[in-house]
Amino acid sequence: MNAPILSLRNVNKSFGPIDVLHDINIEVRAGEVLCLLGDNGAGKSTLIKLMSGVHQPSGGTIEMDGSPVRFDTPRSASEKGIATVHQFGGTFPLMSIGRSFFVGVEPTKGWGPFRIYDRKRANEIAVKAVRDFGITRIEDGDRLVGGLSGGERQSLAIARAVHFGARVLILDEPTAALGVKQATHVLRIVNEAKRRGLAVIFITHQVMHAMAVGDHFAVLIRGAIAADFRKGEKTREEITDLMAGGASMATLEAEIEGYMASHDGHPPQAAHS
Ligand SMILES: Nc1ncnc2c1ncn2[C@@H]1O[C@H](COP(=O)(O)OP(=O)(O)O)[C@@H](O)[C@H]1O
Ligand SMILES: [Mg+2]
Repeated sequence: MNAPILSLRNVNKSFGPIDVLHDINIEVRAGEVLCLLGDNGAGKSTLIKLMSGVHQPSGGTIEMDGSPVRFDTPRSASEKGIATVHQFGGTFPLMSIGRSFFVGVEPTKGWGPFRIYDRKRANEIAVKAVRDFGITRIEDGDRLVGGLSGGERQSLAIARAVHFGARVLILDEPTAALGVKQATHVLRIVNEAKRRGLAVIFITHQVMHAMAVGDHFAVLIRGAIAADFRKGEKTREEITDLMAGGASMATLEAEIEGYMASHDGHPPQAAHS
């Protein structure tokens, strides 16, 4: 196994009196997908905010290539090659594809005060970058980001991160709001990012999505790593149970089925207020 790019060692995070993360140890390696699993409120987003400079740890250390680092701001993390893509792609609906691709890093023609945004060139580069990722439906860099599907927006954001040299790609629930076909597309892009040698941290609570791309898995329960295992070491049922905090999903399913059998096949009704 190659050396980790990013490691968290005994990391804690509190907000005032509230301890959100306890003694976190994880490592991410080039060409590997680490799936971070956990129920709502487990601390997944807080954990990635520590890796992307939004928050700083209250204790413990973050290392990059074996040396301690501090990410004081999101910018300092991104300058060190950490790219974060959020659920809706983090791009700008009213911008063109070419424009959004180069936000903050526009290629220019001319010099000094005469520099202007080179729209044609930006569009060419952006469209090529996304097409290289297998997104062949995008042909026109002038199209607005808002007109793309959720999966295409995710893909655009990932292609952008790779294009600008990210080494660690953090995806916070990229497939949560997508249908099956779009989610499959995003999972394929995740695999492509991995094939290109990025270290990918993939956050999800969808076990099937995690199993489709993950090499390494960490399950977060109430702010602590409750399990840490590699591909093939646990079944889908075992992972689902772990995420449910040890309560057996099989038991829950049997209870729901029992209820339905005794209520004419109707599932339990949600309480109406
Ligand atoms: N800035 C904050 N101040 C206080 N509590 C926070 C803050 N951010 C997150 N938390 C708490 O930390 C816990 C984990 O939240 P979060 O990391 O968003 O979980 P997840 O992404 O797994 O759903 C929650 O109980 C949340 O209320
Ligand atoms: Mg979250």
